[in-house]
Amino acid sequence: MTIDSETGKNFDHLEVFDQQQEHVLAELATRRSECPLQHTDAHGGFWALFDYSTISEVARDTEHFSSIGGVVIPPHGFPMELPPIEADPPEHGQFRGPMLRHFSPAAVEKLAGPMREMVVELIGRFETKGVADLAKELNIPFPGMTIGLIMGVSPDEIEKLKGWTYKLMLDLSDLEAIGEALAFFDDLYTRRVAEPADDFPSTVLELVINDEPVTHEQFLAIMAMVTFAGLETTANSASHIFDVLDQQPELRKLLADQPDRIPNAIEELLRYISPLPASSRTTKCPVDLGDTQLGAGERILMNWMAANHDPVEFESPGTIDIDRFPNRHYVFGAGPHRCLGLHLARVQLRIMVKEVLARLPDYEIERTGIERYIGVTRGIAALPITFTPS
Ligand code: HEM
Repeated sequence: MTIDSETGKNFDHLEVFDQQQEHVLAELATRRSECPLQHTDAHGGFWALFDYSTISEVARDTEHFSSIGGVVIPPHGFPMELPPIEADPPEHGQFRGPMLRHFSPAAVEKLAGPMREMVVELIGRFETKGVADLAKELNIPFPGMTIGLIMGVSPDEIEKLKGWTYKLMLDLSDLEAIGEALAFFDDLYTRRVAEPADDFPSTVLELVINDEPVTHEQFLAIMAMVTFAGLETTANSASHIFDVLDQQPELRKLLADQPDRIPNAIEELLRYISPLPASSRTTKCPVDLGDTQLGAGERILMNWMAANHDPVEFESPGTIDIDRFPNRHYVFGAGPHRCLGLHLARVQLRIMVKEVLARLPDYEIERTGIERYIGVTRGIAALPITFTPS
């Protein structure tokens, strides 16, 4: 593997991911074919990876590549370490292991009924109007409400979560919203210490890290991490999916007529879109990556989106093929940090797609009104639609 520093110097993932899908894909493909490991001076300097196989290697190698210090470039600025994502083994497993049962397929299935009611209720608020902003009125509020279910709070409290979850969705460094979030988690801490329940916060309170009970600060940090991880990811995935379906009427009709094909279609649409396009690691010690030796403390950016469009792994990667098999995409990452909430996200998206196609079958996006932004994900803040009112 060689280094093309000429090209690498210019690579700034935030600028690239901010473009239209075709431009992003073209740029990632060019860089992959020029040199799959490139150094750039952007954001204080880092190494960018573009091929499936090396990204796979780095994501799985926690001996040489660390998540401590953060997995996003530039750093998020949140005032504490955020486990489980910002933890390495053995602590990572101590954080993550006990949490798994709340995010298993069976646990998520139990939430499917309440989640469907939430989606139907949100659509019900605008389905007689003929116009709506699908991002603001469905895709953004719904993941915030789902977090309420995970936290085991009452429907009234879920309604209150919408304020700060909405603000954080658009800007993870919004200090006022972070303050409101921490106040909510702090209140949850007090209540669950006094009266434990069979829910996620109570499981977190029982964590033992390096033989010590979880601290108050760790509790807040875990709640924040899991909450933030479940907001803009799902919301923006949904907005992009509805955007693509608007542009692919045949696929949309197929899924409306055959809803049993929605789960596979979502996997493929997620691969194509790659809503969370990159994550980073830091080298713990000098390490060889292909022919390149990296020193300790170097930051590496794993471009999941580039991996998901690597033709060595995916035939005709730019084509949406809902029957693609196998479809070993890295939409949810890879290795020990693979998304804790992936079953939840899949069920959320299946419910949203099914209900929108059933209740707003002829929705059309007003393309000039789409507002895009770049956060941890490729974001959509506004997605205005028109449709025949029911
Ligand atoms: C379509 C929606 C989602 C996408 C695309 C997504 C994507 C990802 C990716 C790529 C990672 C790995 C990051 C890395 O290795 O640095 C990750 C980790 C994680 N995700 Fe998700 N995610 C989604 C939804 C959710 C939801 C709904 C939750 C929970 C409510 C969640 C919770 C987490 C957590 C806790 C981690 C860290 C896991 C660990 O470090 O062990 N995610 N996600």
